[in-house]
Amino acid sequence: MTETIQPSLIEYKIASTNHERQQAFAVRHTVFVEEQNVPIDIERDEFDEAAIHIIATKNGIPVGTGRLVIETDEAGRKRGRIGRVCILKANRRQGIATGIMKEILKQAQQLPDLKELYLHAQLSAKELYAGLGYVERGEVFAEAGIDHIEMFKSINHTS
Ligand SMILES: CC(C)(COP(=O)(O)OP(=O)(O)OC[C@H]1O[C@@H](n2cnc3c(N)ncnc32)[C@H](O)[C@@H]1OP(=O)(O)O)[C@@H](O)C(=O)NCCC(=O)NCCS
Repeated sequence: MTETIQPSLIEYKIASTNHERQQAFAVRHTVFVEEQNVPIDIERDEFDEAAIHIIATKNGIPVGTGRLVIETDEAGRKRGRIGRVCILKANRRQGIATGIMKEILKQAQQLPDLKELYLHAQLSAKELYAGLGYVERGEVFAEAGIDHIEMFKSINHTS
């Protein structure tokens, strides 16, 4: 008898309930606090409250997340800061972070005032963002003991 292997169902959505937000925070805790030793009081911050959190599920189980924080500068210009992008170890290199980034861009394109997305990329992850059109800006710097570089992308509201 031949066995049929069902492909996994990956879905992306905004964590809109408290339960879904807790699921996003749990994935972050596993990756950043347990795997990367980021201090717990740095990992969760005051921006979580207002952020848009995207959650990726595989066959209904949370496996990845990322957030979009809307910032306004002194001149009133808005830009979106992407952060906390992470995928549970067993689910990496399957395009899930790429899917989360695309979902974040889709959300950003619905905010007409938002002209730019930017993020602080861990150096080990910069190919992910470069492949999606993000460009490096400035010098390498340390954040939570990990080397980072700022990367940005202009938002095209027509696509
Ligand atoms: C970085 C991370 C989010 C990538 O998630 P992912 O779902 O595996 O990424 P994708 O499968 O969408 O990768 C897309 C492309 O990005 C690049 N990429 C992803 N991870 C990479 C890695 N560890 N090293 C080099 N390139 C990488 C590759 O070009 C990859 O395409 P390929 O698999 O066809 O070669 C994941 O490894 C992770 O959670 N790491 C720990 C937390 C972290 O570092 N977060 C980033 C904070 S800035």
